[in-house]
This record gives sequence, C-alpha cells and structure tokens, in this order.
Amino acid sequence: MLIKTLSSLAIASLGFAMTQSAAAEEKVATHQQAQQLEQPLPPASAKHAPTKEELTKPNPNLKIEAVNEKFAKDFPRQYNSWASTSKQTEFHPEVEEDPRMIVMWGGYAFAKEFNSPRGHVYAVTDVRNILRTGAPKDANGGPQPMACWTCKGPDVPRLIAEWGEEGYFSGKWAKGGAEVVNSIGCADCHDTTSQDFKEGKPALRISRPHVLRALDLESVGKTFASSDRTDQRAAVCANCHVEYYFDKTTGANNVVFPWYKGRDVDSIEKYYDEIEFKDWEHSISKAPMLKAQHPDFEAWSMGTHGKNGVTCIDCHMAKKQDKDGKVYTDHQVVGNPATDNFENTCARCHDQSKETLVKTVEQHKKDVKEVMLKLEDQIVKAHFEAKAAWDAGATQDEMKDALKAIRHAQWRWDYSAASHGMHIHAPDVALKVIASGLDRAADARAKLAVILAKHNVQQPIQYPDISTAEKAWKVMGIDIEKERKDKEEFIKTVIPQWNKEAISKGLILTAPPTTPAK
Ligand code: HEC
Ligand code: HEC
Ligand code: HEC
Ligand code: HEC
Repeated sequence: MLIKTLSSLAIASLGFAMTQSAAAEEKVATHQQAQQLEQPLPPASAKHAPTKEELTKPNPNLKIEAVNEKFAKDFPRQYNSWASTSKQTEFHPEVEEDPRMIVMWGGYAFAKEFNSPRGHVYAVTDVRNILRTGAPKDANGGPQPMACWTCKGPDVPRLIAEWGEEGYFSGKWAKGGAEVVNSIGCADCHDTTSQDFKEGKPALRISRPHVLRALDLESVGKTFASSDRTDQRAAVCANCHVEYYFDKTTGANNVVFPWYKGRDVDSIEKYYDEIEFKDWEHSISKAPMLKAQHPDFEAWSMGTHGKNGVTCIDCHMAKKQDKDGKVYTDHQVVGNPATDNFENTCARCHDQSKETLVKTVEQHKKDVKEVMLKLEDQIVKAHFEAKAAWDAGATQDEMKDALKAIRHAQWRWDYSAASHGMHIHAPDVALKVIASGLDRAADARAKLAVILAKHNVQQPIQYPDISTAEKAWKVMGIDIEKERKDKEEFIKTVIPQWNKEAISKGLILTAPPTTPAK
C-alpha cells in the first residue's frame, strides 16, 4: 500500500488549519487504538448485563435539546452539511435482491424487509415505514419493543434523562411514536449545553448510558472521558454502529453490548452461548438463532485503518473548507467516501489515484460477496435439511448439536453481512469470519446427513424453489401483501397523529420527511 509518510499527514501541510479546536491534538495515525485492543480483557466471568438496579435513573437536571433545527443559526456549516444527508436517498431492498435471507430469517421480522442504510436524516422515517415494526394501532400494539428507537435520534437520550433507562426501554415501540421524532442529530454526538460547544468546539459526548457502560468496560481503566480525541471520535459512532442485544432479564428489554469477552465474532458468540441467549427460534429448523445488528465499529477496530488510528471521521466526516476559507467538519456522513469525497479523505493519506483505490474497494466487495453467497447457500440447505429431519421424527436430543452448528454458521454470516462496508473496514477479517462460517455450516450439514440417514430420509432432500422473494415468502409462510396493506394503513392513519402530537408538544418544528421514491 502506498502511504504518505506520517509527517506529510500533519494537518498544517494539508492546509487544514483548524480554527478553534486545537489542531495539534489531531493525531491522524496513532497506534493507541491497536494497543488498547491488544490489552488483556477483564476476567470474563466478572460481569454480564446490568441489573435492574444498575439502570440509569431519571435525571431532571440533564436537559437535552433534541430539535436539530435549533442549532442552524449558531452552527450554519455543521447544520447545513448535516441536513444535506437528505440527498442520500438511495437504498437497496436487500431481501428482495437476495431471497436466501428470507429463509435464513424464517420466523423473524427481518424476513419481511431489510434495506441497506441511507442518509442519517431518514432514520426516523425508515423505522416507521419498515415492515418489521408492523402496524400498531395504539401504544401497546405491534411486534417490537421501545428499544427499536434507540439508534434513531437525540430524543432517545432526552427520554432516558426524563424517564430513566427502565422507563424508556419498557413497553412497546408505539409508545415512543410521538416522542422519537428528530433523526440522528447534534445532541446524539455533542454535549450541546457545554461551554466548549457554545464556543464552537466539538465537546463530543456519549449520549446513551448503555454505550458509555460498554466503552468504559472495554477500555480497561481508561474511560471515554479520559480517551484521546481520536478514540472519542470513533466512539461517537459506536453509539449506534455496533452489535447489541435486548436484555430481557430486567423486564425492560434494554440494550446491552455483548462485549464482555471481546468484540470479535468468536468472543461475542461465546458470550451469547454462555448466557444461553437467542434472538429467536427459527421457524423451520427450530435452531436457537442469533441476529447480528451492525458491528461496524467492531469490524473497523480490527481492520488496518482502525489499528492505525484512522477513524470513521477521517473517511465519513472529513474536514472541509468553505468559500471563506473556514475549516469545519463536514457533517454529511457520506455512504461511500472513496467515490464521493476522495480528495478530502483517501487522498490525504494515499498516493494512489482515485480510480485505483475505488477499484480496490470494489474488488474487496466482490471477493467478500462471492464467498458470502456460498455460505448463504449452505445455511439455507441446512435449515431445510433440519426441517426434513424433524418431519422424519428426529428428537431434540439428536438435533441439538446440528442446530447449534446452524446457529454458529449463521451468526458468522450475519456478523460479516450486517457490518455494512466490512469489505473496506476489515476485508481480511470478513473473509476469515465467512470461512469459519463455512466450516460451521459443513459441520451442521454433516451431522444432519447422519440424522437423515438414520431416519431413512432419501438424500439429497427436495429443496423448495426460493428463486424470487415472492416464492421465498410463500415457502416461509409470510403473507407479504397483508403486511404491506397494514403498513400502508398505519402510515396513512397513525403517523399523522404522531406528527401532530409531537408538533403540538414542541418536540419537532416540521414532520419527518416522507420516503422519496426508491
Ligand atoms: C454522528 C455524530 C455527529 C452528529 C450527529 C453531529 N456532529 Fe458535530 N461533530 C461530530 C464530530 C465527530 C466532530 C469532529 C470532532 C473532532 O474533530 O474531533 C464534530 C464537530 C462539530 C463542531 C466543532 C467544529 C467543527 O466543525 O469541527 C461543531 C460546532 C459541531 N460539530 C456542531 C454540530 C451540530 C450543530 C450538529 C447538528 C446539526 C452536529 N454537530 C451533529 C459528530 C457529530
Ligand atoms: C444515533 C445513532 C447513530 C449515530 C450516533 C451514528 N449513526 Fe450512522 N446511521 C444510523 C442509522 C440508523 C443509519 C441508517 C439510516 C437509514 O437508513 O434510514 C445510519 C446510516 C449511516 C451511513 C450510511 C449513509 C448512506 O448514505 O449510505 C453511514 C456511512 C453512517 N451511518 C456512518 C456513521 C458514522 C461515521 C458515525 C459517527 C460519526 C455515525 N454514523 C453515527 C445511526 C447512527
Ligand atoms: C478508511 C476509510 C474508512 C473508515 C476509517 C471507515 N469507513 Fe465506513 N466506509 C468506507 C467506504 C469507502 C465505504 C463504502 C464501501 C462500498 O460502498 O463499497 C464505507 C461504508 C460504510 C457504511 C455502509 C454505507 C452504505 O450505504 O452501505 C457504514 C455504515 C460505515 N461505513 C460506517 C463506518 C463506521 C461507523 C466507521 C468507524 C467505526 C467507519 N465506517 C470507518 C470507508 C471508511
Ligand atoms: C488518515 C489516513 C488515511 C485515510 C484518510 C485513508 N487511509 Fe487507507 N490506509 C491508511 C494507513 C495508515 C493504512 C495502512 C498502511 C500499511 O499498513 O502499510 C491504510 C491501508 C489501506 C488499504 C490496505 C489495507 C486494507 O485494509 O485493505 C486500503 C485498501 C485503503 N487503505 C483504502 C483507503 C480508502 C479507500 C480510503 C478513503 C475512503 C482510505 N484508505 C483513507 C491511512 C489512511
């Protein structure tokens, strides 16, 4: 890799004379992150999820301004660039493009709809519109818990301050419908009430108590507050771009990061196995499944850039100069900085041409995707083979080990698939995780072959046709037309009520955007 020497990375030579925020503090490449990750972790058995008593209590003194528009006047550059994430309208309907996912998520809401991410300002709109959240008619209806709002915007830390963690997390998703109405914004990442922020300094803050707990646990004696600026920058993205689970032991369905043994795929799996956690039971194989969320932070920290202290900010929120020569942080968190912001990002450190680096990223993507699809094929077959074994009279005892292997195979697939951009953040890690998934899938299928033979099932079994999403939904017993009709009705009747209530309470000035056409 052609890399500019570290001295040439010095901010001054790049013409980025940061105004108020001390440029000297800027450490583009530090090995601290890597060293930190290599430190031994605290004893694994020491602690698990927090108890009910440990959840943060309401804090009436903490005032969080969640209305992003209120910062427009004092911080026009940051505000306008933040608002321009509205230009990033595109996303892919993933399960429709790859119907294998509909089988792999059998019995879980993801099988209905799962899309690639887009601009930050759409977070509230998209969680309202997605089929996964259903069509609740009142605060107690619908399939999902409150926790589903947790990475959508600054109303979340506001509500946690007002209601406490238990008060926030308990109840159904619809309870927060007229409350979580501002998309990912200023108070998610900044201590907006601080003097530093008023003076135009970043004053980065971890706004969610469960995130702070996880970061402080992992950093072994070095809390978020005592981390340097480089570590703090990546940590604000870890508010949301991480793997987490909903802990049911407190009765509140609160969000916990499973980092107690480490952040890699094996350590998290070990933790989940130890606490016997499952997100759901698969509808046809009956395997106790895990759903990976989006371990972007974890994957990044294991990749070359993460280990060299090149943070999310260096690529997704690079510094920019406006017409008056003022340098500021570009808040338009772009999806692909290599194609869309090359000069301000990659080119600061790399000597290769844009064409070369974009091609490198595309090649990584192609390589990872190719093996990922092979793993999906194996997992899909394993689910159907498990169903055939149950149908032939296999017992729980016979099936136990095969089902565990399916769980582990799919967890490994999901960890690499759900970490959006893992092919650039840590391509070598992605390939290794997928290879280990193939190993688990082979193990599952070998075990299932023995069970099927024992029960006189002729092999290979007949696999159903899942070549289109429509066919796959049918096979898996999902009435997608009904889901869509209910959602349409919900958008027409319930959403306007939520908006009206939120506007009348002064929580938003205008309603969140409606979805621009795909
Ligand atoms: C996703 C997290 C995130 C959100 C949302 C966010 N910021 Fe920032 N902001 C950052 C980061 C990261 C920096 C740069 C920190 C650094 O350079 O160390 C920054 C820097 C700043 C600074 C310091 C000056 C500068 O430009 O570097 C100001 C002021 C600021 N943001 C205002 C805002 C305002 C106003 C909003 C809402 C419209 C907002 N931010 C939303 C993460 C965020
Ligand atoms: C409060 C939670 C939250 C925080 C903090 C946050 N994100 Fe996001 N991010 C999201 C969600 C949710 C989406 C998906 C939005 C959608 O598709 O509607 C997203 C989408 C994205 C995308 C896709 C954009 C596109 O146009 O394709 C990128 C890139 C991204 N985030 C990077 C970051 C980085 C870098 C940081 C830290 C500076 C960060 N995010 C902080 C929740 C968050
Ligand atoms: C070295 C630069 C670099 C760093 C550091 C980096 N990213 Fe990325 N990221 C990229 C590129 C390039 C892509 C687009 C890959 C593609 O589309 O093929 C991307 C993609 C993404 C996406 C998916 C966007 C989409 O629309 O699919 C998310 C989300 C994301 N990054 C978040 C993060 C977070 C969070 C961090 C830090 C924990 C981070 N990135 C660190 C360069 C970087
Ligand atoms: C702040 C500096 C910095 C920025 C910005 C940066 N890189 Fe890097 N990049 C590095 C360093 C340091 C390495 C490691 C070099 C080594 O170990 O020889 C690296 C390595 C790489 C590698 C090879 C390792 C791997 O993980 O495959 C690729 C590819 C790469 N960068 C692509 C990109 C792209 C694309 C962008 C822009 C989206 C980008 N980088 C932005 C500093 C940076």
